[in-house]
This record gives sequence, C-alpha cells and structure tokens, in this order.
Amino acid sequence: MSKTFPLNKNLSGGTAKASYRTHIDIPEKQRVALIALLNQQLADTFDLFSQIKQAHWNVKGMHFIALHELFDKLAEEAEDYTDDIAERATALGGVALGTSRMAAHTSRLPEFPGVGIEGSEALAGLIERFAILASSTRAAIDTATELKDADTADLFTGISRGLDKSLWFLEAHLQA
Ligand SMILES: [Fe+2]
Repeated sequence: MSKTFPLNKNLSGGTAKASYRTHIDIPEKQRVALIALLNQQLADTFDLFSQIKQAHWNVKGMHFIALHELFDKLAEEAEDYTDDIAERATALGGVALGTSRMAAHTSRLPEFPGVGIEGSEALAGLIERFAILASSTRAAIDTATELKDADTADLFTGISRGLDKSLWFLEAHLQA
C-alpha cells in the first residue's frame, strides 16, 4: 500500500491551456488529471536535480572526488527523468510546467540543507530527498494505473526503479 501524495495546491498551468486537442484515445478528463500528476512529479524531480547539482558543487571532505563524481552521475539521471516526464505531459496534450521558478513554486521537497557541506551530511541530505521522490513516484504509478494510462504508469515504474537504485548508491556509503 503506497502512501498518498496530494498534489501541491500551487500546481497550476497559469494561463496555459490545461490540455490541447489530440488524437490520443484517452478521455480529456483523465488526460487533465494525468497532466497534473506529471507536472507535480516534474516539479519535484527538477527540484531534486538542482539539489543534486548543489551537492555536486559544494561537497567537501576526504571523499570529495568520489562524491562529486557520483552526484554528477545521479544528477544526469534525474535530468533525463525530467525530460521524459515533461514530454509525456505534452504528448497527452498538456503544457509542461518546467522552469526552475515553476519547480520552486510547486515542489514538495524541502530545500537542500546548507552549503559547503561535509560528505556524510551531503549524503544524508540527498538520501532524505531521494526517499521522498522515490515514494511519491511509486505512488504515481498507482495513480496513473487508476487513470487507466499504462504508458504513464510504465514511465513512472522505470523512474521508480532508477530512483531506488540511486538511493542504494547513496545509502551504501552509510550502511557499513
Ligand atoms: Fe560539474
């Protein structure tokens, strides 16, 4: 049983249309809900991407180079997820809400703690945030399934698997 992750009340397309006409055979009501789900996950994932970069740039300590390089690899993966999520929203006839201001407005993640942080603190900060996103992404699989969109569910399944793996890469440093 996955947790429930209500969409952020700030989530809004502003003046953008909720959905464009498309020949995709998913009813508009479902598409609008799927687009909102995708935009929420886009905001959270984009926020995490920028926080991983923050850790990549500012981590300090004896494990600097290993963590600096690991964080960059994880950031690249997170960036790929944002692209796939945004393009699923547009494929469904939606508007992707993808600027950093939109992400900051809508994200459900807490801000990254501190600057110039020591390796184990950087790991702990990222682990906490990856865990939140991994959990909401797993819940998004169920929501997309309830909305009868196996493709969006499959997209979130792949991302969920990747986030779990990233979480393992981070946690292994602290599990010895
Ligand atoms: Fe870099």
